[in-house]
Amino acid sequence: MMSKNFRRAGAAMFVAALTAASLVACSSEQAPQGGGDEGGGSAAASDTIVLGFSQVGAESGWRAANTKSIQDTLTQENGFDLKFSDAQQKQENQIQAIRSYIQQQVDVIAFSPVVETGWDAVLEEAKAAGIPVILTDRAVDSEDDTLYESFIGSDFVEEGKRAGEWAVEQYDGEGYKAVELQGTTGAAPMIDRQQGFADAIAGSDIEMIDSQTGNFTRTEGKQVMEGFLQKYDDIDLVFAHNDDMGLGAIEAIEAAGKVPGKDIKIITVDGVKDGMQALADGKINYIVECNPLLGPDLAEIAKKVVAGEAVEKRIVTQDEAFDQEAAKAALPDRQY
Ligand code: AHR
Repeated sequence: MMSKNFRRAGAAMFVAALTAASLVACSSEQAPQGGGDEGGGSAAASDTIVLGFSQVGAESGWRAANTKSIQDTLTQENGFDLKFSDAQQKQENQIQAIRSYIQQQVDVIAFSPVVETGWDAVLEEAKAAGIPVILTDRAVDSEDDTLYESFIGSDFVEEGKRAGEWAVEQYDGEGYKAVELQGTTGAAPMIDRQQGFADAIAGSDIEMIDSQTGNFTRTEGKQVMEGFLQKYDDIDLVFAHNDDMGLGAIEAIEAAGKVPGKDIKIITVDGVKDGMQALADGKINYIVECNPLLGPDLAEIAKKVVAGEAVEKRIVTQDEAFDQEAAKAALPDRQY
């Protein structure tokens, strides 16, 4: 890897050329906010790593825990000047934030891509500016894996598969009709969890009768479930791509006079406290964990990247899975 100074010198002309275009892109309300000097890496203490992070949004309990983990770990005491921006689940806001970080000449850019596709152009700009990029939580769908240094996050296909395998273990042979509350359309966890679940139930008599996005939020999960309940009176099972949508579905099911966890079984992904409490209370039947505590891994990889050390291209976060008894046992020590 090039030395930091070499990268910066090489980047200077590119950044100057980019500035005019970026200023247009960065002039609206979504400009990234940083805790420190807005002049970027060159203004910070030389041993401090200036890291620009573009977060998806604040759509779920999982996301709140993920943001907290990053902000709690990438602190001044730990050697970071963190510049953090919330994209409000919009790809254009993330692209704008990344361009602003390039313009500020941060040392490292990290982001959790809201959707999988459409990143090559901005990642090529970061590469041309000599700024390494680390993906956290979600992947990009790019043919060129030199556009990022490392991808830290869960195996979402495996999460969907574990959810589906448990459904088959519990309910195969009963002719269950299932509906799916999908995550944000085009997002890696939406695509992968759907595929993993579908693969796992193939060959069983569980039938997926409908599938719609609830955008990973409780409100939209509730709305979509209300629609499903009006359309079908024979739903046996809900697979929600995250806890928040599952919790929204619980509200819709109760409002329709049915008992969540009994009349309609519910399987979710995440394992945030609210979801685990609903599982302990018998309103959710099974949760596959998705670990949001990515801050420590991000800090470690960012330090190595800046030091020019080799890093693993893919770091898979380890996840557990919980039934009711396991949730009751885990809840007292749950961090998020
Ligand atoms: O990318 C991880 C997913 O994003 C979580 O499962 C979900 O809760 C969040 O919104």
